Amino acid sequence: MLGLLLLASCLWLGHGEVVKSFANCPQFFYRNTTPGNALQPQNPAWICQCYKNLYHFATLYDRKMSVPVYSAYIYQPGPGRRSKSWLVEPQLINPTYHKDMDTESSIANQYRITPQQIGQSQAINQDYNKLKDLDCGHLSPSGHQSGNNSKWATFTLTNRVPQNSTLNKGQWKDYENQTMAQKTPGCKSPYMIMGAVPGNNYISKKRVNVPSHIWSAACCQTNTSMNTWVVIAENNKNQIQNLTLAQLETHLRARALH
Ligand SMILES: *[C@@H]1O[C@H](CO)[C@@H](O)[C@H](O)[C@H]1NC(C)=O
Ligand SMILES: *[C@@H]1O[C@H](CO)[C@@H](O)[C@H](O)[C@H]1NC(C)=O
Ligand SMILES: *[C@@H]1O[C@H](CO)[C@@H](O)[C@H](O)[C@H]1NC(C)=O
Ligand SMILES: *[C@@H]1O[C@H](CO)[C@@H](O)[C@H](O)[C@H]1NC(C)=O
Ligand SMILES: *[C@@H]1O[C@H](CO)[C@@H](O)[C@H](O)[C@H]1NC(C)=O
Repeated sequence: MLGLLLLASCLWLGHGEVVKSFANCPQFFYRNTTPGNALQPQNPAWICQCYKNLYHFATLYDRKMSVPVYSAYIYQPGPGRRSKSWLVEPQLINPTYHKDMDTESSIANQYRITPQQIGQSQAINQDYNKLKDLDCGHLSPSGHQSGNNSKWATFTLTNRVPQNSTLNKGQWKDYENQTMAQKTPGCKSPYMIMGAVPGNNYISKKRVNVPSHIWSAACCQTNTSMNTWVVIAENNKNQIQNLTLAQLETHLRARALH
């Protein structure tokens, strides 16, 4: 069942299915248990997001849609600066390339390839040039990280989705910034997964999918209990809904069968 796989670890329903895919960065999942293959797209890439030689979060990437399926991270907001430029993932281009995320121009120079060649494996900056009513949304938000490097690491195109501007600057921001801060006191390293459901629209000549929904699921273990919560938003409305985990599972299962 999808549900048992998705947040199994956090709910402690897990049967410990071994998924080797995030072998280098299981620490971003509760009890180092990575989700099963239920949300796996046709052409997946498991990315341990590396910046300055350290892992900062984990992303399941959909190479066909050129957007992340989800990013998993530990909520630890703190000071630091935001980046102005966005990076790409060298190892999606070629597994022998270096593992630190990097700028398109640096990769192009280093490996003597063109931006177009980079774009064959992932979204590139140019894909987001002509957005209308859409923002560059983070799945693992920079505001939920602490320190310059961890914040910068969220500025990778493999963590980006085209997100409705009104939602991104409205209810979703309130959730990220305020609701999360209200709900997490007492949580020991809150484990978060933020995901995107593929939609029917695209940007950049059908290169990059515009998700139909954005969702966020959180696990909070306190000294005495384990709390989970889930929110979801349609990506064309400025409205957030609370769901139970079971409702999220039903929703994602329906979309997966779609
Ligand atoms: C973070 O970046 C800012 C701006 O570049 C810099 O002033 C600050 O010293 C940096 N912080 C750390 C801990 O390196
Ligand atoms: C989040 O809220 C805090 C406190 O109100 C504020 O200082 C901070 O700038 C906000 N961050 C964002 C990204 O809006
Ligand atoms: C949780 O337990 C730790 C260690 O026993 C203790 O230091 C801390 O104050 C407790 N936190 C709360 C919110 O009870
Ligand atoms: C974004 O959301 C707003 C507010 O609901 C809506 O009016 C607008 O049509 C949406 N835009 C897109 C591109 O989905
Ligand atoms: C969702 O739950 C939060 C509390 O966790 C509450 O503040 C908020 O009003 C709820 N939102 C809706 C739309 O019911």
